[in-house]
Amino acid sequence: RGCKLIGCGSAVPKLKVSNDDLAKIVDTNDEWISVRTGIRNRRVLSGKDSLTALAVEAAEKALQMAQVDPDDVDLVLMCTSTPEDLFGNAPQIQKALGCKRNPLAYDITAACSGFVLGLVSAACHIRGGGFNNVLVIGADSLSRYVDWTDRGTCILFGDAAGAVLVQSCGVEEDGLYGFDLHSDGEGHRHLNASVKENETEHVLGSNGSVLDFPPRRSSYSCIQMNGKEVFRFAVRCVPQSIESALGKAGMPGSSIDWLLLHQANQRIIDAVATRLEVPPERVISNLANYGNTSAASIPLALDEAVRGGKVKAGQTIAAAGFGAGLTWGSAILRW
Ligand code: ACO
Repeated sequence: RGCKLIGCGSAVPKLKVSNDDLAKIVDTNDEWISVRTGIRNRRVLSGKDSLTALAVEAAEKALQMAQVDPDDVDLVLMCTSTPEDLFGNAPQIQKALGCKRNPLAYDITAACSGFVLGLVSAACHIRGGGFNNVLVIGADSLSRYVDWTDRGTCILFGDAAGAVLVQSCGVEEDGLYGFDLHSDGEGHRHLNASVKENETEHVLGSNGSVLDFPPRRSSYSCIQMNGKEVFRFAVRCVPQSIESALGKAGMPGSSIDWLLLHQANQRIIDAVATRLEVPPERVISNLANYGNTSAASIPLALDEAVRGGKVKAGQTIAAAGFGAGLTWGSAILRW
């Protein structure tokens, strides 16, 4: 069995926050942010907005484009590091979409690599597990975990959701040509939003020993990042990963129509494109408008490029995600 992408969709919050808006709350300016990152605006959840609603909207658009009935979806993969329920977001999305014919729905947590991992997981479920219509959603609201007094991180992130519908097909039609996935927990110290250390009560155990019990309620710290290390990691590992995925697909670099990287920093995108000798006109970027939207960035940029008529049916895309974990991975696919 093969699998192919047949629909995409995306959704962003209404509230637009410009670099000038950020300059009112931290010591920064539009020129610094634009030159160092390429970002000019980002969208941020506000009021009663919810990430679940964004994910549902993106998924509905993908289903419409694919002309697939929600009841025919048999798997929903919600790729997110910021679920609105600690136990997982995907089943709520399944319910809201109205996928009633006994589908499976679960979350995948791999930060900015989440969507690529979700795509590959969808392909594995289709090829080996008998699934037919898999919704892969990338959605994150990192604005909720940003320290808005830290100018080194708060300028980078935005909230969004993107989705694709991956459908089973014959092997001859297969649209996922090759992939390459990695993680390295050693690099966790460079980028994380870890659970806070618990301060516990001290109570006397039955044998007279002092126990740290019960634990206090937990919460997560804001995003901690060593930007320079993350930058170096991305520029080193992403080209290698794409070359490896191309090798597994048995395809030369020249066969790529579009390079679609996780939208973290325009300088990272440019450096990877230069290393892979992909000219700027074949690189997809919408970072200026949305900032780094983590797991949503690849499907959001894909959706805009498809609906804008840039990416056409039958074209080959090299997509790569990278980020916290550290995790990184690539997929060579056909739109
Ligand atoms: N405005 C103005 N000045 C600033 C700002 C700001 N927002 N932030 C930092 N500065 C200052 C610093 O204090 C420093 O000043 P100094 O020279 O007086 O000490 C100077 O600007 C340079 O700061 P650097 O941190 O060295 O700047 P750098 O060129 O490394 O750019 C950046 C920082 C944009 C964060 C870059 O390192 C980067 O993009 N790294 C990759 C980040 C990334 O891709 N993260 C992925 C996360 S994905 C995920 O999984 C969540």
